[in-house]
Amino acid sequence: MVDVILGLQWGDEGKGKIVDYFAKNYDVIARFQGGPNAGHTLYIGDKKVVLHQIPSGIFHQDKINLIGNGVVLDVVTFKKECEAVSAFGVDYKKNLFISERTHLILPTHRALDKASELSKGLDKIGSTLKGIGPAYMDKTGRNGLRVGDILHPDFMEMYNKLRSKHYQLLGNFDFQEEITEWENAFFEAIEFIKGFKIVNGEYFINEKINKGMRVLAEGAQGSMLDVDFGTFPFVTSSNTISAGVCSGLGIAPQKIKEIIGITKAYCTRVGSGPFPTELFDDKGEFLRKTGNEFGSTTGRPRRCGWIDLVALNFACMINGVTQIVMTKADIMDELETLEVCKGYLVNGVESMQVPFQMHNLDLKPVYQSFKGWKKNISALKDISEMPEEMKTYISFINAYLNVEVKYISNGPGRDQLIVA
Ligand code: GDP
Ligand code: IMO
Ligand code: MG
Repeated sequence: MVDVILGLQWGDEGKGKIVDYFAKNYDVIARFQGGPNAGHTLYIGDKKVVLHQIPSGIFHQDKINLIGNGVVLDVVTFKKECEAVSAFGVDYKKNLFISERTHLILPTHRALDKASELSKGLDKIGSTLKGIGPAYMDKTGRNGLRVGDILHPDFMEMYNKLRSKHYQLLGNFDFQEEITEWENAFFEAIEFIKGFKIVNGEYFINEKINKGMRVLAEGAQGSMLDVDFGTFPFVTSSNTISAGVCSGLGIAPQKIKEIIGITKAYCTRVGSGPFPTELFDDKGEFLRKTGNEFGSTTGRPRRCGWIDLVALNFACMINGVTQIVMTKADIMDELETLEVCKGYLVNGVESMQVPFQMHNLDLKPVYQSFKGWKKNISALKDISEMPEEMKTYISFINAYLNVEVKYISNGPGRDQLIVA
Protein backbone atom coordinates (compact mmCIF):
# COMPACT_ATOMS: atom_id res chain seq x y z
CA MET A 1 0.00 0.00 0.00
CA VAL A 2 1.02 3.56 -0.64
CA ASP A 3 0.24 6.62 1.48
CA VAL A 4 0.94 10.14 0.34
CA ILE A 5 2.03 13.29 2.17
CA LEU A 6 1.61 16.49 0.20
CA GLY A 7 1.16 20.23 0.62
CA LEU A 8 -2.30 21.80 0.34
CA GLN A 9 -1.24 25.44 0.01
CA TRP A 10 1.59 27.21 -1.86
CA GLY A 11 4.38 25.03 -0.46
CA ASP A 12 6.45 25.12 2.74
CA GLU A 13 3.62 23.65 4.83
CA GLY A 14 6.11 21.56 6.81
CA LYS A 15 6.14 18.43 4.62
CA GLY A 16 9.76 17.60 5.50
CA LYS A 17 9.10 17.51 9.23
CA ILE A 18 5.93 15.45 8.84
CA VAL A 19 7.50 12.93 6.42
CA ASP A 20 10.41 12.51 8.83
CA TYR A 21 7.90 11.97 11.67
CA PHE A 22 5.86 9.32 9.85
CA ALA A 23 8.80 7.60 8.09
CA LYS A 24 9.13 5.14 10.97
CA ASN A 25 5.86 3.50 9.88
CA TYR A 26 7.04 2.87 6.30
CA ASP A 27 9.65 0.83 4.40
CA VAL A 28 10.11 3.10 1.40
CA ILE A 29 10.00 6.91 1.18
CA ALA A 30 9.77 8.20 -2.40
CA ARG A 31 9.80 11.66 -3.97
CA PHE A 32 7.50 11.75 -7.00
CA GLN A 33 7.90 15.24 -8.49
CA GLY A 34 9.64 18.58 -8.24
CA GLY A 35 13.35 19.11 -7.86
CA PRO A 36 15.74 21.43 -6.07
CA ASN A 37 13.04 24.11 -5.96
CA ALA A 38 11.86 22.20 -2.88
CA GLY A 39 13.37 22.92 0.52
CA HIS A 40 12.22 20.49 3.21
CA THR A 41 13.43 21.31 6.71
CA LEU A 42 14.13 18.65 9.32
CA TYR A 43 15.60 18.88 12.79
CA ILE A 44 17.94 16.10 13.77
CA GLY A 45 18.52 16.81 17.44
CA ASP A 46 19.09 20.56 17.49
CA LYS A 47 20.67 20.55 14.04
CA LYS A 48 18.69 21.88 11.10
CA VAL A 49 18.93 20.15 7.72
CA VAL A 50 17.26 21.34 4.51
CA LEU A 51 16.68 18.66 1.88
CA HIS A 52 16.08 19.66 -1.73
CA GLN A 53 16.42 16.41 -3.65
CA ILE A 54 16.83 13.57 -1.16
CA PRO A 55 13.60 12.15 0.33
CA SER A 56 12.95 13.13 3.94
CA GLY A 57 13.18 9.52 5.14
CA ILE A 58 16.97 9.49 4.80
CA PHE A 59 17.66 9.89 8.51
CA HIS A 60 15.90 6.63 9.33
CA GLN A 61 18.30 3.74 9.12
CA ASP A 62 17.15 0.79 7.01
CA LYS A 63 14.45 2.77 5.18
CA ILE A 64 14.68 2.75 1.41
CA ASN A 65 14.63 6.22 -0.19
CA LEU A 66 13.76 6.56 -3.86
CA ILE A 67 14.00 9.54 -6.20
CA GLY A 68 11.19 8.81 -8.65
CA ASN A 69 10.92 9.30 -12.40
CA GLY A 70 8.67 12.36 -11.91
CA VAL A 71 11.48 14.30 -10.21
CA VAL A 72 13.92 16.56 -12.06
CA LEU A 73 17.40 16.06 -10.64
CA ASP A 74 20.10 18.66 -10.19
CA VAL A 75 23.11 16.41 -9.68
CA VAL A 76 25.23 19.19 -8.16
CA THR A 77 22.66 19.96 -5.44
CA PHE A 78 22.22 16.23 -4.92
CA LYS A 79 25.96 15.66 -4.41
CA LYS A 80 26.18 18.51 -1.89
CA GLU A 81 23.20 17.14 -0.04
CA CYS A 82 24.69 13.65 0.12
CA GLU A 83 27.80 15.16 1.69
CA ALA A 84 25.65 17.08 4.18
CA VAL A 85 23.66 14.03 5.33
CA SER A 86 26.79 11.91 5.56
CA ALA A 87 28.01 14.31 8.28
CA PHE A 88 25.13 12.86 10.36
CA GLY A 89 26.46 9.35 9.84
CA VAL A 90 23.97 8.49 7.07
CA ASP A 91 25.29 5.80 4.73
CA TYR A 92 23.47 7.27 1.74
CA LYS A 93 24.87 4.84 -0.82
CA LYS A 94 23.20 1.97 1.03
CA ASN A 95 19.58 3.14 1.05
CA LEU A 96 19.24 5.76 -1.65
CA PHE A 97 18.00 4.75 -5.08
CA ILE A 98 17.41 6.83 -8.21
CA SER A 99 15.04 5.98 -11.04
CA GLU A 100 16.76 5.74 -14.41
CA ARG A 101 13.83 7.68 -15.88
CA THR A 102 14.42 10.74 -13.68
CA HIS A 103 15.16 13.77 -15.87
CA LEU A 104 18.36 15.74 -15.45
CA ILE A 105 18.55 19.49 -14.93
CA LEU A 106 21.39 20.75 -17.12
CA PRO A 107 23.42 23.92 -16.48
CA THR A 108 21.74 25.47 -19.52
CA HIS A 109 18.30 24.77 -18.00
CA ARG A 110 19.26 27.08 -15.17
CA ALA A 111 20.38 29.72 -17.64
CA LEU A 112 17.10 29.37 -19.53
CA ASP A 113 15.12 29.75 -16.31
CA LYS A 114 16.97 32.99 -15.60
CA ALA A 115 16.49 34.25 -19.15
CA SER A 116 12.77 33.47 -19.04
CA GLU A 117 12.31 35.37 -15.78
CA LEU A 118 14.34 38.34 -17.02
CA SER A 119 12.31 38.55 -20.20
CA LYS A 120 9.05 38.56 -18.20
CA GLY A 121 10.08 41.64 -16.20
CA LEU A 122 7.42 42.60 -13.66
CA ASP A 123 5.28 39.62 -14.68
CA LYS A 124 7.92 37.12 -13.59
CA ILE A 125 6.82 33.92 -11.86
CA GLY A 126 9.32 34.38 -9.05
CA SER A 127 10.86 31.04 -9.92
CA THR A 128 13.56 29.59 -7.68
CA LEU A 129 15.89 29.83 -10.72
CA LYS A 130 16.84 26.18 -10.35
CA GLY A 131 15.99 25.30 -13.96
CA ILE A 132 12.73 23.52 -13.08
CA GLY A 133 10.51 24.94 -15.86
CA PRO A 134 13.03 24.41 -18.69
CA ALA A 135 13.85 20.86 -17.51
CA TYR A 136 10.15 19.87 -17.48
CA MET A 137 9.70 21.61 -20.85
CA ASP A 138 12.41 19.38 -22.29
CA LYS A 139 10.70 16.37 -20.75
CA THR A 140 7.30 17.08 -22.31
CA GLY A 141 9.01 18.39 -25.47
CA ARG A 142 10.76 15.00 -25.69
CA ASN A 143 14.27 16.39 -25.66
CA GLY A 144 15.38 15.87 -22.07
CA LEU A 145 18.19 13.69 -20.77
CA ARG A 146 17.54 11.12 -18.08
CA VAL A 147 19.65 9.59 -15.34
CA GLY A 148 19.79 6.31 -17.28
CA ASP A 149 21.43 8.18 -20.16
CA ILE A 150 24.57 8.97 -18.19
CA LEU A 151 25.61 5.32 -18.47
CA HIS A 152 25.27 5.41 -22.28
CA PRO A 153 28.50 5.71 -24.32
CA ASP A 154 26.92 8.53 -26.37
CA PHE A 155 25.98 10.64 -23.33
CA MET A 156 28.38 13.49 -24.23
CA GLU A 157 27.01 13.64 -27.74
CA MET A 158 23.43 13.77 -26.44
CA TYR A 159 24.44 16.45 -23.94
CA ASN A 160 26.17 18.64 -26.54
CA LYS A 161 23.21 18.39 -28.90
CA LEU A 162 20.77 19.59 -26.26
CA ARG A 163 23.15 22.28 -25.07
CA SER A 164 23.40 23.67 -28.63
CA LYS A 165 19.63 23.82 -28.78
CA HIS A 166 19.58 25.72 -25.49
CA TYR A 167 22.20 28.19 -26.72
CA GLN A 168 19.95 28.98 -29.66
CA LEU A 169 17.04 29.60 -27.29
CA LEU A 170 19.20 31.82 -25.09
CA GLY A 171 19.71 34.18 -28.01
CA ASN A 172 21.08 37.44 -26.69
CA PHE A 173 21.17 36.36 -23.06
CA ASP A 174 24.77 35.64 -22.20
CA PHE A 175 25.38 33.42 -19.19
CA GLN A 176 28.60 31.88 -20.56
CA GLU A 177 30.66 32.39 -17.43
CA GLU A 178 28.05 30.86 -15.13
CA ILE A 179 27.35 27.99 -17.51
CA THR A 180 31.04 27.07 -17.67
CA GLU A 181 31.27 27.13 -13.89
CA TRP A 182 28.08 25.07 -13.51
CA GLU A 183 29.28 22.61 -16.16
CA ASN A 184 32.48 21.82 -14.26
CA ALA A 185 30.47 20.99 -11.16
CA PHE A 186 27.85 19.17 -13.27
CA PHE A 187 30.29 16.69 -14.81
CA GLU A 188 31.96 16.06 -11.49
CA ALA A 189 28.54 15.30 -10.00
CA ILE A 190 27.61 13.06 -12.95
CA GLU A 191 30.61 10.85 -12.07
CA PHE A 192 29.42 10.86 -8.44
CA ILE A 193 25.92 9.72 -9.48
CA LYS A 194 27.38 6.76 -11.37
CA GLY A 195 28.29 5.26 -7.99
CA PHE A 196 24.60 5.12 -6.98
CA LYS A 197 21.98 2.46 -7.36
CA ILE A 198 20.25 3.58 -10.53
CA VAL A 199 17.15 1.41 -10.82
CA ASN A 200 14.10 0.82 -12.92
CA GLY A 201 11.95 2.72 -10.43
CA GLU A 202 8.56 1.38 -11.49
CA TYR A 203 9.52 -2.32 -11.15
CA PHE A 204 11.51 -1.51 -8.04
CA ILE A 205 8.61 0.10 -6.21
CA ASN A 206 5.91 -2.29 -7.41
CA GLU A 207 7.97 -5.27 -6.29
CA LYS A 208 8.19 -3.70 -2.84
CA ILE A 209 4.43 -3.06 -2.77
CA ASN A 210 3.70 -6.62 -3.88
CA LYS A 211 5.85 -7.93 -1.04
CA GLY A 212 3.62 -6.04 1.41
CA MET A 213 6.09 -3.27 2.11
CA ARG A 214 4.68 0.19 2.94
CA VAL A 215 5.48 3.15 0.74
CA LEU A 216 5.23 6.83 1.68
CA ALA A 217 5.16 9.19 -1.30
CA GLU A 218 6.55 12.63 -0.43
CA GLY A 219 5.21 15.62 -2.33
CA ALA A 220 7.07 18.82 -3.04
CA GLN A 221 5.59 22.32 -3.44
CA GLY A 222 1.84 22.53 -2.79
CA SER A 223 -1.49 21.96 -4.52
CA MET A 224 -1.95 25.66 -5.37
CA LEU A 225 1.36 25.49 -7.28
CA ASP A 226 0.21 22.51 -9.37
CA VAL A 227 0.73 23.15 -13.09
CA ASP A 228 -2.90 22.21 -13.91
CA PHE A 229 -4.86 23.29 -10.86
CA GLY A 230 -2.74 25.96 -9.23
CA THR A 231 -2.82 29.71 -9.78
CA PHE A 232 -1.53 29.40 -13.35
CA PRO A 233 0.80 30.78 -14.69
CA PHE A 234 2.19 31.48 -11.20
CA VAL A 235 2.83 27.81 -10.51
CA THR A 236 5.60 25.26 -10.77
CA SER A 237 5.94 22.92 -13.75
CA SER A 238 4.86 19.59 -12.28
CA ASN A 239 1.74 17.91 -10.92
CA THR A 240 2.12 18.39 -7.20
CA ILE A 241 -1.22 16.72 -6.43
CA SER A 242 -1.97 13.07 -5.59
CA ALA A 243 -2.42 12.19 -9.29
CA GLY A 244 1.27 13.01 -9.68
CA VAL A 245 2.12 10.03 -7.46
CA CYS A 246 0.93 7.58 -10.13
CA SER A 247 2.81 9.17 -13.01
CA GLY A 248 5.79 10.18 -10.88
CA LEU A 249 6.50 6.72 -9.51
CA GLY A 250 4.70 4.25 -11.78
CA ILE A 251 2.11 3.30 -9.18
CA ALA A 252 -1.50 2.41 -10.03
CA PRO A 253 -4.22 4.58 -8.39
CA GLN A 254 -5.82 1.71 -6.46
CA LYS A 255 -2.55 1.12 -4.57
CA ILE A 256 -2.93 4.51 -2.88
CA LYS A 257 -4.66 4.55 0.51
CA GLU A 258 -4.21 7.55 2.78
CA ILE A 259 -3.69 10.99 1.31
CA ILE A 260 -2.36 13.16 4.09
CA GLY A 261 -2.61 16.85 3.31
CA ILE A 262 -0.51 19.39 5.17
CA THR A 263 -1.66 22.93 5.85
CA LYS A 264 -0.23 25.63 8.04
CA ALA A 265 -2.60 27.09 10.62
CA TYR A 266 -2.24 30.26 8.52
CA CYS A 267 -0.94 30.59 4.96
CA THR A 268 2.24 31.61 3.14
CA ARG A 269 3.43 32.03 -0.41
CA VAL A 270 6.87 32.79 -1.83
CA GLY A 271 7.27 34.19 -5.34
CA SER A 272 4.67 36.04 -7.42
CA GLY A 273 1.00 35.33 -7.98
CA PRO A 274 -2.38 35.77 -6.33
CA PHE A 275 -2.81 35.24 -2.61
CA PRO A 276 -6.29 36.40 -1.53
CA THR A 277 -5.71 36.33 2.22
CA GLU A 278 -2.29 38.02 2.16
CA LEU A 279 -1.71 40.47 5.02
CA PHE A 280 0.20 43.67 4.37
CA ASP A 281 -0.06 44.96 7.94
CA ASP A 282 1.68 44.28 11.25
CA LYS A 283 -0.16 40.95 11.61
CA GLY A 284 1.51 39.71 8.39
CA GLU A 285 4.82 40.94 9.72
CA PHE A 286 4.12 39.17 13.03
CA LEU A 287 3.51 35.84 11.25
CA ARG A 288 6.66 36.24 9.12
CA LYS A 289 8.81 37.08 12.14
CA THR A 290 7.36 34.60 14.61
CA GLY A 291 7.07 31.85 12.00
CA ASN A 292 10.53 32.62 10.61
CA GLU A 293 8.91 32.70 7.19
CA PHE A 294 11.91 32.95 4.92
CA GLY A 295 12.37 30.54 2.00
CA SER A 296 14.29 27.34 2.77
CA THR A 297 15.70 27.30 -0.77
CA THR A 298 16.13 30.97 -1.70
CA GLY A 299 15.98 32.80 1.64
CA ARG A 300 13.32 35.16 0.22
CA PRO A 301 10.77 36.51 2.74
CA ARG A 302 7.53 34.55 2.45
CA ARG A 303 4.28 36.44 2.02
CA CYS A 304 1.98 35.68 4.97
CA GLY A 305 -1.78 35.71 5.50
CA TRP A 306 -4.78 33.99 7.05
CA ILE A 307 -5.84 30.42 6.34
CA ASP A 308 -7.90 30.18 3.14
CA LEU A 309 -10.60 27.50 3.40
CA VAL A 310 -11.85 28.06 -0.16
CA ALA A 311 -8.41 27.11 -1.52
CA LEU A 312 -8.02 24.32 1.05
CA ASN A 313 -11.40 22.86 0.17
CA PHE A 314 -10.40 22.90 -3.49
CA ALA A 315 -7.10 21.17 -2.64
CA CYS A 316 -8.94 18.51 -0.59
CA MET A 317 -11.23 17.83 -3.56
CA ILE A 318 -8.48 17.61 -6.20
CA ASN A 319 -6.26 15.40 -4.04
CA GLY A 320 -8.88 13.24 -2.32
CA VAL A 321 -7.39 14.16 1.04
CA THR A 322 -8.29 11.64 3.75
CA GLN A 323 -6.64 13.37 6.73
CA ILE A 324 -5.08 16.70 7.49
CA VAL A 325 -2.02 17.69 9.45
CA MET A 326 -2.05 21.29 10.65
CA THR A 327 1.42 22.73 11.22
CA LYS A 328 2.74 25.86 12.92
CA ALA A 329 -0.29 26.29 15.14
CA ASP A 330 2.17 27.52 17.81
CA ILE A 331 2.98 30.58 15.70
CA MET A 332 -0.55 31.91 16.34
CA ASP A 333 -0.21 31.61 20.15
CA GLU A 334 -0.09 35.34 20.87
CA LEU A 335 -2.76 36.58 18.47
CA GLU A 336 -5.92 38.15 19.99
CA THR A 337 -8.08 37.36 16.96
CA LEU A 338 -7.72 34.92 14.09
CA GLU A 339 -9.45 35.31 10.75
CA VAL A 340 -10.54 32.40 8.57
CA CYS A 341 -11.40 32.93 4.91
CA LYS A 342 -14.66 31.11 4.22
CA GLY A 343 -15.60 32.62 0.85
CA TYR A 344 -14.46 34.85 -1.98
CA LEU A 345 -16.36 37.95 -3.03
CA VAL A 346 -15.87 37.92 -6.81
CA ASN A 347 -17.15 41.05 -8.53
CA GLY A 348 -19.40 41.52 -5.50
CA VAL A 349 -20.85 37.99 -5.57
CA GLU A 350 -19.93 35.52 -2.82
CA SER A 351 -18.49 32.21 -3.97
CA MET A 352 -16.93 29.17 -2.30
CA GLN A 353 -15.05 28.09 -5.41
CA VAL A 354 -11.57 28.79 -6.72
CA PRO A 355 -12.06 30.65 -10.01
CA PHE A 356 -10.35 29.95 -13.37
CA GLN A 357 -7.84 32.61 -12.50
CA MET A 358 -7.48 34.90 -9.53
CA HIS A 359 -5.24 37.58 -10.94
CA ASN A 360 -6.93 40.32 -12.97
CA LEU A 361 -10.06 39.68 -10.92
CA ASP A 362 -11.83 41.75 -8.29
CA LEU A 363 -11.58 39.12 -5.55
CA LYS A 364 -11.88 39.80 -1.83
CA PRO A 365 -11.83 37.26 0.97
CA VAL A 366 -14.85 36.88 3.25
CA TYR A 367 -13.68 36.27 6.81
CA GLN A 368 -15.05 34.80 9.98
CA SER A 369 -13.28 35.88 13.16
CA PHE A 370 -12.19 33.58 15.96
CA LYS A 371 -10.83 34.34 19.40
CA GLY A 372 -7.12 33.55 19.80
CA TRP A 373 -6.07 31.02 22.45
CA LYS A 374 -3.35 33.25 23.93
CA LYS A 375 -1.45 30.34 25.41
CA ASN A 376 1.90 28.78 24.64
CA ILE A 377 1.04 25.42 23.07
CA SER A 378 4.53 24.32 22.09
CA ALA A 379 4.89 21.96 25.05
CA LEU A 380 1.46 20.31 24.67
CA LYS A 381 1.57 16.56 24.28
CA ASP A 382 -2.07 15.60 24.38
CA ILE A 383 -5.27 16.83 22.80
CA SER A 384 -6.92 17.08 26.22
CA GLU A 385 -4.61 20.01 27.00
CA MET A 386 -5.67 21.95 23.92
CA PRO A 387 -7.17 25.39 24.68
CA GLU A 388 -10.93 25.69 24.05
CA GLU A 389 -10.44 28.55 21.55
CA MET A 390 -8.14 26.33 19.50
CA LYS A 391 -10.69 23.51 19.58
CA THR A 392 -13.29 25.93 18.20
CA TYR A 393 -10.92 27.09 15.44
CA ILE A 394 -10.13 23.53 14.39
CA SER A 395 -13.75 22.32 14.64
CA PHE A 396 -14.80 25.06 12.22
CA ILE A 397 -12.10 23.96 9.75
CA ASN A 398 -13.08 20.27 10.09
CA ALA A 399 -16.72 21.06 9.40
CA TYR A 400 -15.96 23.34 6.44
CA LEU A 401 -13.59 20.89 4.74
CA ASN A 402 -15.42 17.76 5.77
CA VAL A 403 -11.99 16.21 6.34
CA GLU A 404 -10.56 15.87 9.81
CA VAL A 405 -7.49 17.67 11.10
CA LYS A 406 -5.97 14.52 12.62
CA TYR A 407 -2.63 15.90 13.77
CA ILE A 408 -1.52 19.27 15.03
CA SER A 409 2.14 20.21 14.84
CA ASN A 410 3.13 22.59 17.62
CA GLY A 411 6.81 23.16 16.92
CA PRO A 412 9.58 22.34 14.47
CA GLY A 413 10.96 19.52 16.65
CA ARG A 414 10.74 15.91 15.54
CA ASP A 415 8.37 14.90 18.32
CA GLN A 416 6.16 18.00 18.43
CA LEU A 417 2.97 16.52 17.01
CA ILE A 418 -0.36 16.06 18.79
CA VAL A 419 -2.92 13.50 17.69
CA ALA A 420 -6.29 15.29 17.52
P1 GDP B 1 8.29 22.08 3.51
O1 GDP B 1 8.87 22.65 2.27
O2 GDP B 1 6.83 21.82 3.38
O3 GDP B 1 9.03 20.87 4.02
O4 GDP B 1 8.43 23.22 4.63
P2 GDP B 1 9.74 24.11 4.91
O5 GDP B 1 10.75 23.26 5.56
O6 GDP B 1 10.14 24.88 3.71
O7 GDP B 1 9.13 25.20 5.90
C1 GDP B 1 8.49 24.84 7.08
C2 GDP B 1 9.23 25.50 8.26
O8 GDP B 1 8.45 25.42 9.41
C3 GDP B 1 10.53 24.79 8.63
O9 GDP B 1 11.45 25.76 9.08
C4 GDP B 1 10.13 23.85 9.75
O10 GDP B 1 11.20 23.57 10.63
C5 GDP B 1 9.09 24.68 10.44
N1 GDP B 1 8.00 23.92 11.10
C6 GDP B 1 7.35 22.82 10.67
N2 GDP B 1 6.32 22.52 11.50
C7 GDP B 1 6.34 23.47 12.46
C8 GDP B 1 5.51 23.72 13.60
O11 GDP B 1 4.53 23.04 13.86
N3 GDP B 1 5.82 24.82 14.34
C9 GDP B 1 6.89 25.62 14.06
N4 GDP B 1 7.13 26.66 14.85
N5 GDP B 1 7.69 25.41 13.01
C10 GDP B 1 7.40 24.35 12.20
P1 IMO C 1 8.59 23.10 -1.08
O1 IMO C 1 8.67 21.67 -1.54
C1 IMO C 1 7.34 27.20 -1.88
C2 IMO C 1 7.41 28.50 -6.07
C3 IMO C 1 8.42 29.56 -6.45
C4 IMO C 1 7.69 30.24 -7.59
C5 IMO C 1 6.98 29.07 -8.27
C6 IMO C 1 7.71 28.52 -9.48
O2 IMO C 1 9.72 23.51 -0.21
O3 IMO C 1 7.26 23.39 -0.49
P2 IMO C 1 9.89 27.04 -9.83
O4 IMO C 1 11.29 27.22 -9.34
O5 IMO C 1 9.25 25.77 -9.40
O6 IMO C 1 9.78 27.25 -11.30
O7 IMO C 1 9.06 28.26 -9.14
O8 IMO C 1 6.84 28.08 -7.29
N1 IMO C 1 7.99 27.30 -5.41
C7 IMO C 1 7.87 27.02 -4.11
N2 IMO C 1 7.32 27.76 -3.11
N3 IMO C 1 7.85 25.97 -1.64
C8 IMO C 1 8.39 25.21 -2.62
O9 IMO C 1 8.78 23.95 -2.44
C9 IMO C 1 8.45 25.78 -3.93
N4 IMO C 1 8.92 25.33 -5.12
C10 IMO C 1 8.62 26.27 -6.02
O10 IMO C 1 8.69 30.43 -5.38
O11 IMO C 1 6.71 31.10 -7.07
MG1 MG D 1 9.97 24.31 1.65
